Amino acid sequence: MINALRGMKDLLSTQIEKYDYFVKNASKIALNFGFEHIETPILEETALFRRSVGESSDIVGKEMYEFVDKGNNNICLRPEGTAGVVRSFIQNKYDRIAGVKRFFYHGAMFRYERPQKGRLREFHQFGVECFGESNPYEDINIILLLKEILDFFKIEYTLKINSLGCEKCLPPFKENLVKFLSDIEDGLCDDCKRRIRTNPIRVFDCKNKSCQELLLDAPRLGVSLCDECSKSFNFVKNFLLEANIKYEVDSNLVRGLDYYTKTAFEFVSTEIGAQNAVAGGGRYDKLVKFLDGRDTPGIGFAIGIERILNLIDLPKTEKSGYYFGAMDENAISLVYKLGVKKRKQERVEIAYNPKSLKAHLKTADKKGMRYCAVIGENELKNHQVWIKDLVKKEEFLKNIEEF
Ligand code: HAM
Repeated sequence: MINALRGMKDLLSTQIEKYDYFVKNASKIALNFGFEHIETPILEETALFRRSVGESSDIVGKEMYEFVDKGNNNICLRPEGTAGVVRSFIQNKYDRIAGVKRFFYHGAMFRYERPQKGRLREFHQFGVECFGESNPYEDINIILLLKEILDFFKIEYTLKINSLGCEKCLPPFKENLVKFLSDIEDGLCDDCKRRIRTNPIRVFDCKNKSCQELLLDAPRLGVSLCDECSKSFNFVKNFLLEANIKYEVDSNLVRGLDYYTKTAFEFVSTEIGAQNAVAGGGRYDKLVKFLDGRDTPGIGFAIGIERILNLIDLPKTEKSGYYFGAMDENAISLVYKLGVKKRKQERVEIAYNPKSLKAHLKTADKKGMRYCAVIGENELKNHQVWIKDLVKKEEFLKNIEEF
């Protein structure tokens, strides 16, 4: 027997119903916020992620599904959605047009991680990206959009925010941090030792208790922000406060991707286990320029759809549609024709084999159909269909022509 690959799951039955329900409603909310739909390819040049997500990130360093194709191109399955949207934004020359452009997308992402609850190798994200707006009102807008989506599905969360600084304040901070880390290097785990040289601020994301203890006295970016970053972060915090939106400033929140600047955030839930981030995002004001586009600020987020599926309640569906069945072999072709006709108007199920009335009624009910239409020997003779309304529990006969 061939099974799905490790960390990859079929979405079936209520799971896929919830998935569709989520995407439909999240898209509607994003459209209301002025975002337009974009879908970018699942395969991209590996260099796109190396340059954006960053060589030093775990995603690029350890988790990419990377290979050489028949044309000798080094390509990979996208591990996240932002880089592809930025690539498309530049390739389609939107960076040369003044104004703001907002996109939303959803689809499969791939990371070769160690699978566990809430952590898959193929998972799906619903994401948004906004380009051309440096005003911190957009940071708020993006957080409010994410909040509105989660609130719609009645998902509880804690909002964590941090500022990751900019090209002015981050480099001197990193220098300072490296000095501190070099002094405590012997006590750090191997990953953190490596991070000192690759991307020192990632040490704050280490889950190792002894590293966390050693980092208690580490310099924090929050107090080293330049005036502009500080002003923008304060604006975001004050707005959230005034709007009564609870948040925690988490100076350990550094995100797993290297492209972030200024505001970064995560929505975490206590209801989904150890992999508790429901969504994450932030500003990436230098990424468009870094990928050879015109200097354009950007900000966005992505929700991990699988992580919230179990928290979504589907609305109760009303019984709907027609079930067609025959009680006699001779009635099957007529039943089929009626079903095909009705299908142009509503949901239809057609049974191809003759069965007893009781069996047809049972199947129609199980499939959530509103009407069960059956033709037996008598109905065939009288050119009629017997119909039962499974909601009102009423039965009636209808002439085929009328039907
Ligand atoms: P991220 O934090 O890497 O950000 O992923 C966003 C969300 O995807 C996570 O919060 C989590 O819910 C989900 N996720 C990540 N990895 C897995 C996995 N292995 N299995 C299941 N779910 C997972 C990004 O991807 C950025 N592109 C977000 C962004 C958009 N930033 C700006 N714009």
